[in-house]
Amino acid sequence: MPLNPQLDTLSDYPFESLRTLLNPVTPRVNDAPIAMSVGEPQHQPPALLTETLAAHAHEWNKYPPMQGIPELREAAADWLTMRYGLKPGAVDGERNVLTLAGTKEGLYLLAGLVVPRRKGGGRPVVLVPNPYYLAYNGAATMAGADAVFLDATVENRFMPDLAAIPSSTLERTALFYLCSPANPQGTVASLDYLKQAIGLARRYDFVLAVDECYAEIYDTVKPPGALEACAALGPGANSLFERVVVFHSLSKRSSAAGLRSGFIAGDPELISHFSHLRSYGGCQVPLPIQAAATALWRDEAHVIENRAKYRRKFDIAEAAIAGRFGFYRPDGGFFLWLDVGDGEEAALRLWRDAAIRVLPGGYTARDGGSGVNPGQKYIRLAIVHDDATLEAAFDRIRRVL
Ligand SMILES: Cc1ncc(COP(=O)(O)O)c(C=O)c1O
Repeated sequence: MPLNPQLDTLSDYPFESLRTLLNPVTPRVNDAPIAMSVGEPQHQPPALLTETLAAHAHEWNKYPPMQGIPELREAAADWLTMRYGLKPGAVDGERNVLTLAGTKEGLYLLAGLVVPRRKGGGRPVVLVPNPYYLAYNGAATMAGADAVFLDATVENRFMPDLAAIPSSTLERTALFYLCSPANPQGTVASLDYLKQAIGLARRYDFVLAVDECYAEIYDTVKPPGALEACAALGPGANSLFERVVVFHSLSKRSSAAGLRSGFIAGDPELISHFSHLRSYGGCQVPLPIQAAATALWRDEAHVIENRAKYRRKFDIAEAAIAGRFGFYRPDGGFFLWLDVGDGEEAALRLWRDAAIRVLPGGYTARDGGSGVNPGQKYIRLAIVHDDATLEAAFDRIRRVL
């Protein structure tokens, strides 16, 4: 069958690799399996979600507008303005925001929009933090760019070292995906770091896409955002958010991963082109879902409650394993990134001897040219279960590792 040859350069999806590793193995213990491998919220979304869906049940027969209903785009704009202390009117729902069917589709489509055939006299580059969320790498590859992996290791506090990117690479860069709070390490980019990244995007004429999906799950300090950094830095030649877009999702903020609802916001010129591209191949979001999303972005009470629950989970983790496996309390997100020496071996042992599934860190990272896969020593644990399940999981982890 004729296929796009770029497909061959994509690695297996991490959960496929995990099934290959663990499925042939039967746990030796009778304990109930605990899946800490998948970053899926386990809390129930607020009742507001189903109530709003029900109130809009008469709208399932209608084709929804591709760009999102004005009410939702406005709710997203208002939320961004409030959350990041922006000047009223700085974010306009119509010019700066587009609705997405979850951020994954938008993150993926973006590379197809902004990667040209050539840039800076060579093949275009997409900068990808390493470890990474797989969509960044997949999008870069399928758009025909060279993905350049920026290792985020304990030495650079798990944020790519911007000063270390050669200018010859920056000249060829069309797009830079950054994730803050980062999946998997939970590191938050500071306002200065974001300003520096925006400065590079404007100087070298590329798009900075900041994935802020975990922005509302944080420990003590609210993670700053890239639009906030634009406001602190001042406008580019044409707009305040020049060359910058952010992605936000209800999947983690409102424990509504199944709703498939997120948005992209930022540079109005880019948003306009993105809207054009999406009219060909984007996913329309059904009207009742857009109504529910509007209500969720306008409600903060459930988000505050959700955050408190995650803090309790990290209290449990800290009490159980502080001082071991390079444990640190992540600034944001809901993962633990533990240095166990050999991630694959530890994942196998945890499954065989404790019936716990975790993701080997090497499956969400790769050797980007340094000779080392920066995730290889690690395992990623999703800290999403109820408190009793987590206590049991950490008891088993302490026993086995
Ligand atoms: C870093 C990161 N970005 C984006 C997504 C996609 O989220 P969604 O498509 O549900 O908005 C995820 C999901 O796990 C993620 O971990």
